[in-house]
Amino acid sequence: MKFDSSAPVGVFDSGVGGLSVLQHIHQALPHEKLVYVADSSFAPYGDKTSHEILKRSIAITDFLLSQDIKAVVVACNTATAAAISHMRQLYPDLIVVGIEPGLKPAALLSKTKKVGVLATLSTIQSDKYQRLRVQLNEETGVEFFSQACVGLVEQIEKKEVDADQIRSLLQHYLPPLLNAKVDTLVLGCTHYPFVADFIHEFISAYTDDSKLIRLVDTGKAVATRLQHLLADRLLITSESGTPAITAYTGGNSETLKHAFTEWIHIPEEQLSISTFLI
Ligand code: DGL
Repeated sequence: MKFDSSAPVGVFDSGVGGLSVLQHIHQALPHEKLVYVADSSFAPYGDKTSHEILKRSIAITDFLLSQDIKAVVVACNTATAAAISHMRQLYPDLIVVGIEPGLKPAALLSKTKKVGVLATLSTIQSDKYQRLRVQLNEETGVEFFSQACVGLVEQIEKKEVDADQIRSLLQHYLPPLLNAKVDTLVLGCTHYPFVADFIHEFISAYTDDSKLIRLVDTGKAVATRLQHLLADRLLITSESGTPAITAYTGGNSETLKHAFTEWIHIPEEQLSISTFLI
């Protein structure tokens, strides 16, 4: 397969969460054309089997390849855990970049050597995640406290988030980690950066030393990795200007537009959103 430097980069997630990664890609590579797929009719991925998530990931990547992409970013921790190794076998020539919970940076940051990880149930139960957790624990002595935040993605997928619902879910999920004295919290799902303010608010109300607790998310690292891989293969676009972002959603296009414009501040004029029916 031959790729063209002027081709777009494909990015996908189960829904709006991947925009927390796309915003870093857009900042790092502002001249690249981007095609985003929000698989919202199938969200959340976190309660699906890895086989189901793999099937969706392949269907979406095939769709993106039909749009002539030069790279695909799996902007979803759950799909990365379930599908990335199969995808690399299936598309050996394509640049495939995934995202995984930032256990490594968190282990380096933690002074208490206790790190909390918020992620979907599917990510936490995956072999990939468990292998990484055990390996880093052996290497660094850091203890990881994993918390599946069932229900949180559904709340973030709504156009108008229900603050009370989000607070009540956090009330359920954060205290065990805070009581265990974690000083670093990994946002192991790309939806969660969009509730970081709620997380900070909860921690401040719950503990005296809220400033000592840091949140780690790996969206920026993914953008840097993509940039390096494109540069290595001479696939960075030579075009200048700010191209339109093409987006597809299996859900409500107003919800996706709202997330683009209000959450990651992409102007409406730069967006073209269509329905995704796969
Ligand atoms: N945003 C996703 C992740 O990073 C998936 C969330 C979901 O659909 O459950 O894990």
